[in-house]
Amino acid sequence: MKDFIVTLDGPAGVGKSSLAQALAQKLNIPYMDSGAMFRILAYEIGPESLEMSDSQLESELENFHFSIQGTGQNSQMCNNGRQFGAEIRSEEIANLASKLAVKPVVRSFLRNAQRAVGKQTALVCEGRDMGTVIFPHAGCKFFLDATPEERARRRSRQLESMGIAADYSTILDQILSRDAKDRNRKESPLRPARDAVLIDTTERTVEEVLELLSTHINHLLERRSHKQ
Ligand code: DC
Repeated sequence: MKDFIVTLDGPAGVGKSSLAQALAQKLNIPYMDSGAMFRILAYEIGPESLEMSDSQLESELENFHFSIQGTGQNSQMCNNGRQFGAEIRSEEIANLASKLAVKPVVRSFLRNAQRAVGKQTALVCEGRDMGTVIFPHAGCKFFLDATPEERARRRSRQLESMGIAADYSTILDQILSRDAKDRNRKESPLRPARDAVLIDTTERTVEEVLELLSTHINHLLERRSHKQ
């Protein structure tokens, strides 16, 4: 089980975080929120990161040391041992993270950091390129999607539950513009891995999707144990 990696990729607001956390809880392994790593960089370095040369950015990145504390629902992405909360969840930080995410120096730094975490423990990880680039040999890959309107509704509810003001039409615009950036960038664009299971979550509840994912993983784990 130590080498078992489950990847969940998909666009913003599709529900990856809740599903990855719930799945990690069921499997009793850590959950890696790769988007949080981009958000932490955006939050800590700030908008001036977009003006920096590659070598300036590289030297900034040397100050970051990511690790995961806890397992399942309690998994926390930390930088230098520090946890982050609502301060990295605003749409402003999400947009800056999305702009930083097109930079090859940033992606290469986080690629190494993410793989280093995956070497130490079994993981459920979620993001945009977990199954395609970061863990191409992962034991189990999923790609989740939903219409932009449904994702904007989910993101508004999630922000409101965290006490962050959310306007549906602004969020929908931001989701559409972030989708375009994430899907069309040169470096690690958002797309399903060839061997990923595709799930349209638009008409499904979190519980229904979780059931689908769990059933699939249980089949895989059974097959693995027969082979061993
Ligand atoms: O999943 P999220 O909304 O927290 O991600 C924030 C931004 O980070 C998103 O717009 C794109 C980027 N990202 C990425 O490029 N690759 C990942 N594996 C995760 C996030």
